Amino acid sequence: MITKPRGTEDVLPEESKLWQNIENTARKVCELYGYKEIRTPVFEHTELFQRGVGDTTDVVQKEMYTFEDKGGRSITLKPEGTATLVRSYIENSLYANPQPTKLSYIIPCFRYEKPQSGRLREFHQFGIECFGASSPTTDAEVISLAYMFLNELKITGVKLNINSIGCPVCKKDYNEKLKAYFEQYRAELCPTCLERLEKNPMRIIDCKSEICSRIAKDAPKMIDHLCEDCHSHFEGVKERLDNMGVEYTINPDIVRGLDYYTKTVFEFVSDALGAQSTVCGGGRYSGLVEELGGKPADGIGFAAGLERLILVIKKQQQNAEKLDTAPDLFIACMGENAEKFAQKLIFELRLMGVHAEQDLCGRSLKAQMKYADKLSAKFSVVIGDDEITKKSAILKDMNTGETVEVSMTPEDICKSINKEAKN
Ligand code: HAM
Repeated sequence: MITKPRGTEDVLPEESKLWQNIENTARKVCELYGYKEIRTPVFEHTELFQRGVGDTTDVVQKEMYTFEDKGGRSITLKPEGTATLVRSYIENSLYANPQPTKLSYIIPCFRYEKPQSGRLREFHQFGIECFGASSPTTDAEVISLAYMFLNELKITGVKLNINSIGCPVCKKDYNEKLKAYFEQYRAELCPTCLERLEKNPMRIIDCKSEICSRIAKDAPKMIDHLCEDCHSHFEGVKERLDNMGVEYTINPDIVRGLDYYTKTVFEFVSDALGAQSTVCGGGRYSGLVEELGGKPADGIGFAAGLERLILVIKKQQQNAEKLDTAPDLFIACMGENAEKFAQKLIFELRLMGVHAEQDLCGRSLKAQMKYADKLSAKFSVVIGDDEITKKSAILKDMNTGETVEVSMTPEDICKSINKEAKN
């Protein structure tokens, strides 16, 4: 038997309702905030992520699904959405519209990581990006969108952590301090971090190795070394979050795993998950548009991992009522004529917004009624040649057992099962 590749998941029908709920909530909140959906390719030129995400990050160094296509080009399955959106923003001249440009997306992402609960090789993100606005009001708006999205999903026990990781001006001095600190531990750092020590010491803080992360705990914090501009921006963001009543904790240890961030970074962490507890992460990136060939424009956004949200929701809904997928009506049939008659009627009922079903597997009448029970159908009706001639049949309320005679028109059936007809 061929099984699914490691780190991938099938979403089975019972679960896909949860996915639809999350996706619908994401779209609803985006609409309220003026974010418009963008759809982009699943794969991109590898260089986009090398330059965009940064070649000293774990994502680029260890986790990308990269291959050569038949034309000899290096192609990579998207490990995240931001670099792609920046590419698209530049390529489609979206900067020419009145700014800011507010975009949202729901995408599959691919990272060759060690799979565990909440960490997959193919996973899905809902994300937003806002281009062309550098005010602290923008940061607060973006963070509040994530906050509202999680609230609307009725997820509890999620905490917002924020930090500032400065700009190239303050990072320059800070990197020197960081380098001096890590130099003392040169002998203990992992080989990847030794390379990072030269190229990008801040990446060491994000290393997953036990020894490196222990050493990193006492490293100097960026938030204590912000320049005046970054400091007042961060103060501005906090003030605006306070103003909206969005609660947060300042966590100087957040550096994020991707290189493009400047100034504000943030993460929403759930207490319902184990090691992989970050359900949503994001931040500002001031240099990325220029780095990828565009005219300078600020960006800020976040992405939430849908599989992690599903894990939290499932834990919190363990005793909650089941999602309603039961048909409104089951039509049991006696004979081929009835089957055909029922199919047409069901087609018309579905057009009117009624979820109606019939047997498709040649069951006996008794077995059809058992099947209707299994589906938890709300109403049932049995039709045979007599009912077709009379143009009426007995409708049964499957919960109360009550019966009533109805004429076999879609309009009358709609009325009798208390379902308002669409149009
Ligand atoms: P990220 O922190 O790498 O940020 O990923 C965002 C979210 O995707 C994480 O918080 C997590 O919920 C989910 N996630 C990441 N890796 C996995 C995995 N292997 N399995 C399951 N879920 C995962 C970004 O991707 C940035 N592009 C976010 C952003 C947008 N920053 C600015 N704009």
